[in-house]
Amino acid sequence: DRDIKIAPSILAADFANFGQEIEAVESQGADWIHVDVMDGHFVPNLTFGPAMCKAIRPHIKTVMDVHLMISPVDPYIEAFAEAGADIITAHVEAGPHIHRTVQAIRANGAKAGVALNPGTPAESVDYLLDMVDLICVMTVNPGFGGQKFIHSQIEKVKQLREMIGDRPIHIEIDGGVDPTTAPLVAAAGADALVAGSAVFKGGSVTNPAPYGDNIRTIRAAAEA
Ligand code: DX5
Ligand code: ZN
Repeated sequence: DRDIKIAPSILAADFANFGQEIEAVESQGADWIHVDVMDGHFVPNLTFGPAMCKAIRPHIKTVMDVHLMISPVDPYIEAFAEAGADIITAHVEAGPHIHRTVQAIRANGAKAGVALNPGTPAESVDYLLDMVDLICVMTVNPGFGGQKFIHSQIEKVKQLREMIGDRPIHIEIDGGVDPTTAPLVAAAGADALVAGSAVFKGGSVTNPAPYGDNIRTIRAAAEA
């Protein structure tokens, strides 16, 4: 496949240096910056909120891709939009009103994404296809970086690509993406790949070249 977006997840970056880490991966070829927001309730981990997103926003020249692993979602959409999120993705499992959530994301001026946990079927987005810009297929159970890719999700990606038809919707993969798994999901129809540990491994803000090698290797594997 062609034109794959690589979205490094700052969950795997140095939390004391987000600004510099973002500038480093962007200078090394990142297309989007993926920001994992966790609430200790929807997922068993805590990260950061809208204030942190606003603080890093000036360091992002590309696209700020905010993945909300929080429940409830609706009370926080305006704050993340105001913080400068270009894409806001909410989980279909996060509440009973994903349709309303998607409407609210767009009403606040951001692109709307919906994320599906590994146990959630492709059909759960059937009635959202005409109102979303991105579908995120979780290939790990959300909450932590560095987990093992769940292969059963490849079939879900194929199903979604079929369901989407010619609508302009990205299929994003999140979890366990590396040079071995990237070609599998790209062949199934994914066009945006989140990668945390596989991008940040081996490098640092003072030695960013490995970030570039990692991004190029994942991209080449996916586009092959
Ligand atoms: C998991 C997060 C992912 C995570 C991916 O809950 O949504 O974005 O950072 O990390 P890796 O690429 O290490 O699996
Ligand atoms: Zn994520």
